[in-house]
This record gives sequence, C-alpha cells and structure tokens, in this order.
Amino acid sequence: MASPMKIFLIFSLLPLLQLQFCSGQNAVNGVYWFRDSGFAASNIDSSLFTHIFCAFADLDPQTRQVTISAANNASFSQFTATVQLKNPSVKTLLSIGGGSSNTTVFSQMAAQSSTRKSFIDSSIRLARSYGFSGLDLDWEYPQTSSDMTNLGTLLTEWRAAVTAEAQSSGRPALLLTAAFYYAASVNGLNYPVSSINRNLDWVNAMAYDFYGPSWYRFTNSHSMLYDSTSQVSGSYGIDSWIQAGLGAKKLALGIPFYGYAWRLANANNHGLLAPSTGPVGSDGGAIGYNQIRSFISQNSGTVVVYNSTIVTNYCYSGTTWIGYDDTQSVAAKVSYAKQKGLLGYFAWHVGVDSNWALSKQGNSQILMQLLLSCVN
Ligand SMILES: *[C@@H]1O[C@H](CO)[C@@H](O)[C@H](O)[C@H]1NC(C)=O
Ligand SMILES: *[C@@H]1O[C@H](CO)[C@@H](O)[C@H](O)[C@H]1NC(C)=O
Ligand SMILES: *[C@@H]1O[C@H](CO)[C@@H](O)[C@H](O)[C@H]1NC(C)=O
Repeated sequence: MASPMKIFLIFSLLPLLQLQFCSGQNAVNGVYWFRDSGFAASNIDSSLFTHIFCAFADLDPQTRQVTISAANNASFSQFTATVQLKNPSVKTLLSIGGGSSNTTVFSQMAAQSSTRKSFIDSSIRLARSYGFSGLDLDWEYPQTSSDMTNLGTLLTEWRAAVTAEAQSSGRPALLLTAAFYYAASVNGLNYPVSSINRNLDWVNAMAYDFYGPSWYRFTNSHSMLYDSTSQVSGSYGIDSWIQAGLGAKKLALGIPFYGYAWRLANANNHGLLAPSTGPVGSDGGAIGYNQIRSFISQNSGTVVVYNSTIVTNYCYSGTTWIGYDDTQSVAAKVSYAKQKGLLGYFAWHVGVDSNWALSKQGNSQILMQLLLSCVN
C-alpha cells in the first residue's frame, strides 16, 4: 500500500516529474485508429495516449510497395497533424496489412531480396512524406517456416534501412514495431525471436480473439489474462515470448476495446463455459465497448460480472451473454504489464471506446504505476 507520505509526494511532485527519469523509459500507452470504423481522427482524445497506430496501409500485390488507398489518402496524410493538435508529443505509426489483408502477398514480398527492398523503401518514403514517427507491420500470419525465416531477414533489412535513412536525413530514426500473435509461435511455427528482439522497437502481442461464438459453442472470455487450464491466455502468451528470448521491455500487451456476444442455449445457465447456440448479431458476435454500454443501459436487468481469477468482465440479459474488457479488467491488465516489466500496452481500437472510459482507465493506471515506481 502507498503511505500517505507517498501519496503526498506523488501529487506534490506531479508537475515536476519527468516520468522517463524514474522509469528509465517511457511506457507505451498505445491505441490503434481504424479508419474503416468511421470514427474521425479529429475526435481522438490523443492526450490519453503516447502512440497512435494509423490502420491500415496496403501491400500492393504487383509492385510489393506499401500504398495507401485513395479512400484513406486524405485522412492518412493529415493524421499526424490532426492528432498532434491535442497532444503535440504523441507519436504516430503507419500500420501495414491487418487481419483482412492477403497473407500470400506478404509471404511473396518477404521471400526475395528485391521485393523486400520495394516494401522497405516505399514504407520509409511514405512514413516520411506523411509525417509518421514510425511503421508497424501487421502480417496476419506467416504460414510456413520459410515465411518465419524470411520475416527475420525482412526485419534485419528494414532496421538497416531505417538506420541509414536516419543518418542521411539527420532525423530521429523511425520506430519499427509489429503486431504479432499473442504467443511466440502461431500454428506450430516459431517467430524469429532473435531478429525481432534486435530489430524491432517493440511487439504488440494481440492477446484477444481467443474464442468467438461463431466457432466455439460455450461462452468464454476472448481475452482472458489467466487460464490455469490451457495455454490460451494473455499471460501464457507473454511468458512464451519472454521464454523465447524477447526482452520484456520489447512487449506491449494487447487489450481489446470490444467483446463477443454469445446466444445462450438456456437463459438460466449464464456463467463462463455455458452452452451457446452461436453469435448474437452480425460480424460473428463482435461488439464494441460503446455498444456494450448501450446494451447494458437499455436492458435494465443486465447483470455485470467481473471475474478477477481469469481477468474478464461479462454481462448477460435474457439469452444474450457478452464477454469483454471493462474498466476493472483494463486496470488489472495494465498493472500486470507493469509488474511483469513490460513496455506497456496497446488497445484495438480507439473508435469503440465509450466516453473514453477504457482509455482513461489505462492511462491513469499507467501514470500511477510509473509514479509509484519513482517514489519506491
Ligand atoms: C495523397 O495525399 C497527398 C498529400 O495530400 C497528395 O500529395 C497526393 O497527391 C494524394 N494522392 C492521391 C492518389 O490522391
Ligand atoms: C492473395 O494473393 C495471391 C497472390 O497475389 C492471389 O493469388 C490470391 O488470389 C489472393 N487471395 C485473395 C483472397 O485475394
Ligand atoms: C471465475 O473464473 C473461474 C475460472 O474459470 C471460475 O472457477 C469461477 O467460477 C468464475 N467466477 C465467476 C463469478 O464467474
């Protein structure tokens, strides 16, 4: 527990403290902005974040260059200036690929030196001409062991090119990050961890989408932090990355700002692992936190549960059951990230928060943890 003296110190020193002096490093408090969600970049409260990922740029299947679609061009080119209005020190990264991009195109690009060069050079040009502070690779997912080897080579060449560009331009090097699977291996294939550790500033570990109502006929948390009965949990994934050799300070824990809605087979059986007949609504039951809050306020009998054993929230009303992260699970996950010595956390995605409740929770939790580490 923090003593009254510590609390006094925390608040009296607040304006004076340079957080990086105490922590040794700025914590990452990141979020993705997904333009296709329709949420305008100008509405982002960027004061709540250190890094904002702009999603997504594309990989052209013919030229293997990174491109921005015509529909995204105007908003992406203004993105950094827009979000820096409310927070001049926020850093922006251009995220490339995404869950619905074509993995074969990434695989082919990574397989040859000439196509890797097209990717790398075009990505750096785009980042500089659009004013981004960095680049984020979102290849979901490498599918063969040669993909994994080629990914390692790609990252080595990308880092070399970014370093060379910084030297010739005299500007700070672009940040390089990637959004990877929650664990250090995916479909039995190991990520090239030593290249990742050497060449990336950090990894966004996507610790969500573990279960969904369109393929799993029991209610569950899709983003639980702990599960003593399986290897499918955020903490298992983080441990696996660290055991594989990735530095803890190269990891950001993914937190979803959305949940999944299951249709209960029986309204009276409404706990975890209750039988379900499938998703509620479209999009495989995926539902943003803002819609979950509306659901709770529109259905007055909704019961909301926080399960601290696995770290999840869920709520139910009638035959609708929704597993999601609310303020309690966000607070617990950010504390876990700090205790584990991670770099920080990131969320997908900013457009579905509700009145900034989750963003503020994550932000205040990280500030408090940093301040406590200063006075301890
Ligand atoms: C994209 O935006 C940039 C910056 O505003 C502009 O120079 C360029 O012509 C645009 N490209 C397309 C294809 O619209
Ligand atoms: C993905 O890309 C490959 C290679 O360009 C192409 O052959 C394939 O049709 C694409 N798949 C989809 C679903 O677009
Ligand atoms: C919380 O989760 C644990 C582990 O799955 C379970 O044993 C317990 O019954 C759950 N509690 C509630 C209230 O859901």
